[in-house]
Amino acid sequence: MDFSAVILAAGKGTRMKSDLPKVAHVIAGRSIIQHVIDAVRGAGSEDIVLVLGFGRETVCQTLTNQKDLRIAVQEQQLGTGHALMQTEKLLPKNGTILVTNGDTPLLRSQTLADLLKFHWASGAEATVMTAILDSPFGYGRVIRTKGGFFHRIVEEKDATREEKKIREVNSGTYCFQTNSVFRALQELKNDNVQHEYYLPDVLKILRRWRLPISVYTAGEAQDEVKGVNEHLQQDEEKKILRQRKNQQLMLDGVTIVDPDTTYIDWQVTVDHDTTILPGTFLCGSTHIGKNCTIGPYSHIVDSDVGENCTIQQAWLEKTQVRSGCHIGPFAHLRSQTVLENNVLVGSFVEIKNAQIGEKSAVPHLSYMGDAQIGKQVNVGAGSITCNFDGTNKHQTVIGDHVFVGSNTNFVAPIQVGNYARIGAGSTVSEDVPADCLAVERADVRIIPKK
Ligand code: UD1
Ligand code: CA
Repeated sequence: MDFSAVILAAGKGTRMKSDLPKVAHVIAGRSIIQHVIDAVRGAGSEDIVLVLGFGRETVCQTLTNQKDLRIAVQEQQLGTGHALMQTEKLLPKNGTILVTNGDTPLLRSQTLADLLKFHWASGAEATVMTAILDSPFGYGRVIRTKGGFFHRIVEEKDATREEKKIREVNSGTYCFQTNSVFRALQELKNDNVQHEYYLPDVLKILRRWRLPISVYTAGEAQDEVKGVNEHLQQDEEKKILRQRKNQQLMLDGVTIVDPDTTYIDWQVTVDHDTTILPGTFLCGSTHIGKNCTIGPYSHIVDSDVGENCTIQQAWLEKTQVRSGCHIGPFAHLRSQTVLENNVLVGSFVEIKNAQIGEKSAVPHLSYMGDAQIGKQVNVGAGSITCNFDGTNKHQTVIGDHVFVGSNTNFVAPIQVGNYARIGAGSTVSEDVPADCLAVERADVRIIPKK
């Protein structure tokens, strides 16, 4: 069946003590609101309306794909009921809407789909999703009648001491029929401690009109309703989201040796039969191919790694690694680095904006910046490209099958032809033609002790 979704996300999130709008905070590689949008999309919604207000440009910047989103602006944040009022013109006059807070990143698509199914099956005018929490502090409490039916919701700040003992809480996720909910919103009052127009109060009004209201209590999904209101909660949710990501990868055939110390962002993809060792961070849009061993202690951001690679204790940013490469330990590959198949990058090597050809090796203690290195080149220990003249960066271009002796300095711009050899300890500041040997070295003087 058809429905539209509304996500309420205009608030600042005062309890977060941050200048950033609450829903723009990133957890597990996605902004809080993006988690909610993805969950709603997964439940089958093709029409999503976001209610934005505080810092709305900042919030929009965190969205990965805005194509199917429409935005209603709530200039002044006068409460969740007032927020929903702003969407009336964007929604069909008669239809179902799924309304949810933008600060509940643990919600899963399946739970939302179950809620909608329950709502339609019950024939209710409104359905509120609730959960039973061990620590209900901060949430609206669900007051039921003696017969166990829904009566009303009371917010933490308005609740009596007795009401605060109730453990059944409002999840902030509801199904409404547009026709009745927008009529009820017109009757909403702000006569409460916070002087806000509370969305949960529309349920009270609908009930007064004797329209059927049902309650969907999330059983196993009770943890999903938890909202992010302060940093501490964000911490808890981060853990749950990371666990979910790790579990999903393990189900897909990835070995994660210690999930507690492995941090994988939501968008990251890892192919089967790859092993991830402890202390590893895979961030942003990183992809790792099959049969790799990553870690321990590696940090890989927005990079693409092929098959059969090993990466030990290394830091990679915006790097392309083809297949069969070995990196580390203690290597730093910076942006625009490309390693072709079967490249070896060893310990204490830094590479930036450089392409290293097939079967080439930079095994020890080197810096290769702004360089193009051909196939089957061996770069001896301690060799560096002198790519910066104090003002500009220059290129070093090295052909195929070149042998670079240890401790060579390439003073760029410079070109070295195929099969050339460089004598150890040379500072080369002129181009070296193919098949030649270049040596720049003073004769050794041996001076006996007096
Ligand atoms: C709300 C519910 C509470 C429920 C809880 C579940 C109300 C009055 N209370 O409380 O019963 O247990 O969620 O998490 O609804 N927002 C706006 N405009 C506003 C105010 C808020 O768009 O004027 C947005 C916020 O950005 C946020 C969401 O609505 O994403 C919820 O607001 P928040 O202030 O966090 O409500 P809670 O106090 O958590
Ligand atoms: Ca909240």
